[in-house]
Amino acid sequence: MAKYIIKGGKKLKGIIEIKGAKNATLPILAAALLAEGVYNFSNVPELKDVEVMMNLLRHLGLKIEKKEPHKYQITNKEIKNTEAPHELVKVMRASFLVMGPLLASRKKARVSLPGGCAIGARPVNFHLNGFENLGAKITVGHGFVSAETKELIGAEINLPFPTVTGTENLVMAAVKAKGKTIINNAAREPEVGDLCNLLNKMGAKITGIDADRLKIEGVKELHACDYKIIPDRIEAGTFIILSALTGGGVEIKNARLDYLISFVKKLKEMGITAVDVGGNINVKIPEKLKAINVMTAPYPGFPTDLQAQLMVLMSLARGESVVEEIIFENRFMHARELNRLGANISVSGRKATIQGGRKLIGAQVTATDLRAGAALVLAGLTAKNTTIINEIEHIERGYEDLVGRLQGLGADIKKQP
Ligand code: EPU
Repeated sequence: MAKYIIKGGKKLKGIIEIKGAKNATLPILAAALLAEGVYNFSNVPELKDVEVMMNLLRHLGLKIEKKEPHKYQITNKEIKNTEAPHELVKVMRASFLVMGPLLASRKKARVSLPGGCAIGARPVNFHLNGFENLGAKITVGHGFVSAETKELIGAEINLPFPTVTGTENLVMAAVKAKGKTIINNAAREPEVGDLCNLLNKMGAKITGIDADRLKIEGVKELHACDYKIIPDRIEAGTFIILSALTGGGVEIKNARLDYLISFVKKLKEMGITAVDVGGNINVKIPEKLKAINVMTAPYPGFPTDLQAQLMVLMSLARGESVVEEIIFENRFMHARELNRLGANISVSGRKATIQGGRKLIGAQVTATDLRAGAALVLAGLTAKNTTIINEIEHIERGYEDLVGRLQGLGADIKKQP
């Protein structure tokens, strides 16, 4: 199993460039199932999860060619298959995103049921209820979900929670449904907006983008198009924290601060400022960090995907900080690992209490999921001595060439295969 070996405590300096958003890329690639033709997608991050989605789309019949780094051409000539097998869904839950577009373009889909994962049970009942509202017949059995319809018909869908991939799956099902669909309590994450903007470029009629009530006027035909994916806000947030932890000398290029408003506000409470100076984000750090309280929430609230990384800063800030996680029920696996590096975090249910003012010291730790792993890299870069991170496959699902990019800033980090 590959590991990262980090010798921490160095001041880092330089510019780090943000790649395309993983969680926008995955539904956008799946949307190529909706219409025949040739698509050119740019700013595609080179990540394991993106590769898994591409392999699934190839399995369904699409041709995918890498034209240059971050540029892919997808040709949809004929969908040969409407089944997403267990081998591909089990390695990435977001594979479930092919269900909506397959249902819209082929009127049927059979997708392996995604299981729970390290951060929570993560059911797909809101996706399935929504498909039923649109007129699909759903059956679950033998570890698969099957959906079939004679014709999808627009409907009003009330989501019990603004699920991100659920909203995306339902929008992709609804764009070719007969009549009008309304999705109430829709997720407002910028990645959902990016998918809707692509779909409109393909000929869909979606309004209310970036709001919590999406209106979709069904159309008969969609067409292929070219599209550039938005930058990854979670990568940007992770590297803003990196800069704050390593002396403030790291500038972040190609990021969108307007996607990170609640995050930047919380940093400000800690004493850290992040401002856009001529297109690059500059980070200023105070002499002493302040302890704060954070509650995760659906966008535009504080992102669950940044709470693990923030806890590293909280461990250094003097005083007691609290993180309440309301999106996922089991997303504090990093607390135990950060404690191995000298943090003092106690977890009770959905609340983590961080006693700050700690000095981190290197140790062997394990990445339990993508963002927990990112937090450990940040902690390792701050800690004295050597930190060894195991199970880094999780980290490489969401951060392209992390080692190379950090080395470019002067970090002492190596990957041991
Ligand atoms: N939920 C249900 N039923 C459903 C759908 C969701 O109960 O049918 C619950 C979930 O169990 C969870 C909550 O609703 O408690 C929110 O889940 P959501 O569906 O919004 O999450 P997701 O769509 O599975 C996406 C991102 C995650 C990110 C979350 C929250 C993708 C591919 N994944 O997951 O990204 O944490 O939204 O913002 O877009 C990551 O990148 O590290 C990551 C985990």
